[in-house]
Amino acid sequence: MLITFEGLDLSGKSTQARMLLDRLASQGFEVVFIREPGGTDIGEKIRAILLDTENKGISDEAEFLLFSASRAQIVRERIQPALEAGAVVVCDRFYDSSTAYQGWGRGIPVSAVEAINMCAAAGLAPDVTFFLDLPVAEIERRLAIALKEKDRMESNGRAFYERVRNGYLEIARQQPRVTVLDATKPINELHEEVWRRVVARGAELGKHFEKEEA
Ligand code: TYD
Repeated sequence: MLITFEGLDLSGKSTQARMLLDRLASQGFEVVFIREPGGTDIGEKIRAILLDTENKGISDEAEFLLFSASRAQIVRERIQPALEAGAVVVCDRFYDSSTAYQGWGRGIPVSAVEAINMCAAAGLAPDVTFFLDLPVAEIERRLAIALKEKDRMESNGRAFYERVRNGYLEIARQQPRVTVLDATKPINELHEEVWRRVVARGAELGKHFEKEEA
């Protein structure tokens, strides 16, 4: 089973991905955590190029293909083998990030992005995707209080983030696998919503996640 978390920067998706992972592991399930971009030796090098504030001159297309290259590597090196071994794979970002950021955000034709996504992902599709949705003003507030230096991707500004958010909402309208969560809710409440959805989808796929809690 492949579960992905999506959202704008600082939406809390990484926290939710970790909480789900811990709960699955505590029930004795084999779990694998994936973070994009990165997650392999090659992917970490690509990640460094993508987030480096010195690389302001990178073209939108080069940026997109680098995210895709990192994904192509992690799919083959880690995700496919884990799924074949029967593990539950939890991804902090997957190809919906490219559709939303590079397609809707940067303006690369979404059909081209989707075609490359399929190639990078070797045709894999997530079984469940969570989009942690936040108003852009709230993202900006969180960025301001995080008191950290912005990486290249985080320096994009409000209009870009609005386009990315709308892109995610459009993906959610088109893809029944996507559940939109209101990321302003408390962490534990969000986790319970995630858990209920995973249990329900797992049951459809013949994986019974609540066996030890029942
Ligand atoms: P990261 O520091 O991992 O941020 P986050 O914790 O929000 O995931 O940086 C990843 C950045 O790269 C983030 O701004 C989103 C962006 N991104 C894309 O633009 N396209 C992609 O395909 C992926 C995977 C990430």
